[in-house]
Amino acid sequence: MIDRFGRSLEYLRVSVVDRCNLRCVYCMPAAGAGFDPWAELLSYDEIVTLTGYFAELGVRKVRLTGGEPLVRPGIAGLIRRLRKIPGIEELALSTNGVLLKQQARELREAGLDRINVSLDTLRRDRFKEIAKMDRLSDVLEGIEEALRCGLHPVKMNTVLIKGVNDDEILDLTRFAVEHSMEVRFIELMQTNQAVMLDPAQNFLSVEEARGMIETQYRLVPFDTYVSSPAKVFSIVGTQARVGLISPLSCFFCARCNRLRLKANGALKTCLHGKEDLDLKSLLRSGASRAVIQRKIEAVVFNRPEQHFLTQPEVKHQDFQMSHVGG
Ligand code: 5AD
Ligand code: SF4
Repeated sequence: MIDRFGRSLEYLRVSVVDRCNLRCVYCMPAAGAGFDPWAELLSYDEIVTLTGYFAELGVRKVRLTGGEPLVRPGIAGLIRRLRKIPGIEELALSTNGVLLKQQARELREAGLDRINVSLDTLRRDRFKEIAKMDRLSDVLEGIEEALRCGLHPVKMNTVLIKGVNDDEILDLTRFAVEHSMEVRFIELMQTNQAVMLDPAQNFLSVEEARGMIETQYRLVPFDTYVSSPAKVFSIVGTQARVGLISPLSCFFCARCNRLRLKANGALKTCLHGKEDLDLKSLLRSGASRAVIQRKIEAVVFNRPEQHFLTQPEVKHQDFQMSHVGG
């Protein structure tokens, strides 16, 4: 599938559930984000069917996200089924790590290739402050177990929050060095009005983070996948890497190759755009594979050129991160 700007769409992010067992301040209010009833979520059969349609249209890589994907029972079984779809070459998963220790081996055996784990702090009290639950040790044990099971590379996602974890940038980098991981520092995004952090006060740019890292480590550009939003650097003398993700800069839109399927079955062709197509209703109304694929191709062809978020007069579409999965 190619859009009208010549971008080829090969990467599908599938949110399997909008629920989460944490309440990160930059993502959702402490009371939760308003979860869809289970019946409104795509079933595993529906996810497998739709992924098959997307694979026929050229999707090669699938990442499972949430909410927190590991709170939905049976994820390993889903992975085993997705693994069998012709054309899907890579299967990855993003998790907060809380349930990873128990599930890593099963996920690996089911055919999962890679995993990203959110980790914003190495301090127990601070983890509780950011995520509202006392689960840091579970996350750290989950990372160790994923490494032991051969889910390489395990990447760490760290949201930069000024005044909260900016004094841990070097500690988190050292953690990545000690575990031969890639740590990806992500700039805070304004996703909707309900999230409790104010970018005006809590925003820290990846360039500032890079400055701090370079006081201790030497970084050299690492040649990566061109359509990734991360600028990746090797840390000289180690196996570790640092990724810098700046969601608001537009340098990435020109090469963006990703589609997002929400847990409720809506397709989004841009993270910051509207919901483009209700695939669940189409499937449940009995639409044929050919009809559904034609509709997907049409909305993909017309996807926006970029998100225009850096232009002040343009308001982005509010969204709830836990419904889209990043
Ligand atoms: N800004 C930046 N990243 C976010 N995430 C969630 N909310 C935000 C936000 N407001 C990303 C983080 C987190 C993952 C689950 O989603 O990477 O680790
Ligand atoms: Fe935190 Fe991710 Fe859960 Fe949101 S979905 S509360 S960012 S772990």
